[in-house]
Amino acid sequence: MDKQVLDKMLRPKSVAIIGASATPGKIGYTVVDNIIKGGYTGKIYPINPTCTEILGLKTYPEIEQVPDEIDSAIITVPAKVMAEVVEECGRKGVKGLIVITSGFSEVGRKDLEDQMLEIAARYGMRILGPNIVGSLSNSDKFNGSFAPGLPFPGKASLVTQSGALLIALDMATYTRRVGFDKLISIGNMADVDFADLIEWFDEDENTTCVSLYIEGMKNGRKFIDAARKSSKPIVALKSGVSAHGAAAAASHTGSLAGAAKIYTSAFKQAGVIQATDLNDLFNRTLTLSQQPPMKGDNLLILSNGGGVGVLATDAAEKYGIPLKFAPADVQEELKKHMPDFGSAKNPVDLTGMAGNDWYYQTTKFSFSHKWTDGLVVLYCETAMTNPQEIAESIKKAVDESGLKDKPITVSFVGGEKSDKAMGWLVENGIPAFGAPDIAVNAMASLRDYARLQEYKNSDHFETDEKAKQMALDVIAKARADNRDSLTEIEAKEVFKAYGMPVTSISLSKTEDEAVALGKKIGFPLVLKIVSPDILHKSDAGGVKVNIKDEAGIREAFQTILKNAKAYKADADIHGVAIQEMAPWGTEVILGSVNDPAFGPTVMFGLGGIFVEVLKDVTFRVTPVSHAQAEEMIGEIKGAPILAGVRGEKPRDKKELAKAIYQYSCMIYDLQDEIKESDANPVLVYEEGTGLKVADARIILKAK
Ligand code: ACO
Repeated sequence: MDKQVLDKMLRPKSVAIIGASATPGKIGYTVVDNIIKGGYTGKIYPINPTCTEILGLKTYPEIEQVPDEIDSAIITVPAKVMAEVVEECGRKGVKGLIVITSGFSEVGRKDLEDQMLEIAARYGMRILGPNIVGSLSNSDKFNGSFAPGLPFPGKASLVTQSGALLIALDMATYTRRVGFDKLISIGNMADVDFADLIEWFDEDENTTCVSLYIEGMKNGRKFIDAARKSSKPIVALKSGVSAHGAAAAASHTGSLAGAAKIYTSAFKQAGVIQATDLNDLFNRTLTLSQQPPMKGDNLLILSNGGGVGVLATDAAEKYGIPLKFAPADVQEELKKHMPDFGSAKNPVDLTGMAGNDWYYQTTKFSFSHKWTDGLVVLYCETAMTNPQEIAESIKKAVDESGLKDKPITVSFVGGEKSDKAMGWLVENGIPAFGAPDIAVNAMASLRDYARLQEYKNSDHFETDEKAKQMALDVIAKARADNRDSLTEIEAKEVFKAYGMPVTSISLSKTEDEAVALGKKIGFPLVLKIVSPDILHKSDAGGVKVNIKDEAGIREAFQTILKNAKAYKADADIHGVAIQEMAPWGTEVILGSVNDPAFGPTVMFGLGGIFVEVLKDVTFRVTPVSHAQAEEMIGEIKGAPILAGVRGEKPRDKKELAKAIYQYSCMIYDLQDEIKESDANPVLVYEEGTGLKVADARIILKAK
């Protein structure tokens, strides 16, 4: 990540603006003006070949003529002269370039971007952008951008792929009272990417939470690794969630994969908290930048009104921290600070009679009590109370508790006075929101953060070298035949190598061979066409099930060959597979596709109508741990079916989780070989009796 280079680029002691202009309204003018107005105390060197002074600063015609060292160069010259300028920066010894200029890969000129990168690499320079607004740092009073001004100060830092969004949000940080230390526009991410900045922020003492606006990324694995290592909360908003790459996919899984599902899974696996929209990004960023994680599930809500309490209760359930009644000793104590008609259960209703003292006493007691893992304080503005005094009572109570590892969020519902009081709370480190559900959602993000810390470290994976070699041998045979897909028999050999139970299957080339094999495997049987040219066997009339005797085998054998030839006259037919007919079980599907950003992924869902119509599936980026496999089983909508409904016995979820894990190992190990794959159906039996992969498909990467 080149910490020192990024330090120089983003927190420079001296900065040159190449393409600085004396003409107001031009970007090259605005950047110089912004740096001055922001109060930057480092050295500023405008570079322009045609003038001698810009905004009172001496101007140099070329960066190489500047007598001092330059840490960071902000570039605002047109794309066509970029190569020349980057070369000059290299010769000058500048290490960090902030390239505001547009007109590169975003408009199909990747060649210009590559040229710039090649020069930068030669000199060991790093590039932010191109096609960006710039970079802003409150703690350095550095506004190296054409955004309106430094943001509302705080401890979060934002990285955004959309420059327009940075400009739009910059001043909104004041009205929304969400404090940021750094705002960084990352644009085309030709070089410095999200992962680099996540790593860099981890060592930035002025950042306590990293906030990301993501449109897409090229190297998802690097992102996951960096996020997993981060010791700071990361909250991300992903836009552009329509399906990608799905249309061209040949397998079932391919058509079900979508950017949204894979990003959501990847965020989870990386320990990143996902925001649902811009408001959510702001609210969660504020909360995570100011409060510690919520380490347990005991949420206590204090309020002075039933309505807000009920809204908060609904939100608690919705966001995954459902309320429990407070223990008897907590209720006893709380009752001392409310009238008889109040409620000391949870949510606690202090009633409209609650004043400063009741808020102070109950906040202090509840926050300090060991049962409480997180406290949400709600207040509805009344004529007998002053919101500012209530805010101060809450703050005093929290301070006096001396606790730094327990979170609190607040909601005041009222008018201008309430709004002001909330502003005061935020400035004093307590996140406050205008609606009770948002305060609860904010608390839930702190709970999510704690849960994700455990989850992201649950991953454990080791390559099974023996299994891998067996699989590679099977694949090598297919490659030697110039095939880009395995037959079902071969695919099952690969699955079997990784320990997955597959139905017995053998290839017969003649009717008599089929009969002999069938008798050996035992009835009932399934007969299937084996041809690398016929992937969708049922569509070709290439599958016959429930064959009960020798006559049945002979008839099915002939019919299948006839149908296959009618379906595709020139198909390369290897023969007919004779397969054990697995007994009925709950049908599930396992699948895999290569995501453009995150590489090999694993999909799981219920089979049949659930996958065809309801698309009730879930994804993970491989490798998937046992814990993650169990979680995948639990998170599909059809999960209760596996748990056993309407008198059905529960299915063998333990063996299913093991199979998902084994499948993920297979996909991860063979990622250079496998393009797409699925096991459909996998038949899952009653608890303790396992499962069987009834059909398996593997499509190879073109080589
Ligand atoms: N060294 C130093 N200065 C130079 C050099 C050089 N080699 N070559 C030209 N210059 C000077 C020019 O003389 C000019 O200064 P002047 O005003 O004194 O004449 C200055 O650099 C700028 O050059 P212009 O040709 O006037 O270019 P202009 O200012 O019109 O545009 C810009 C340059 C802003 C970089 C433009 O090409 C561009 O990319 N605009 C889009 C930037 C953007 O929006 N980025 C964010 C995207 S995200 C979002 O959408 C918000």
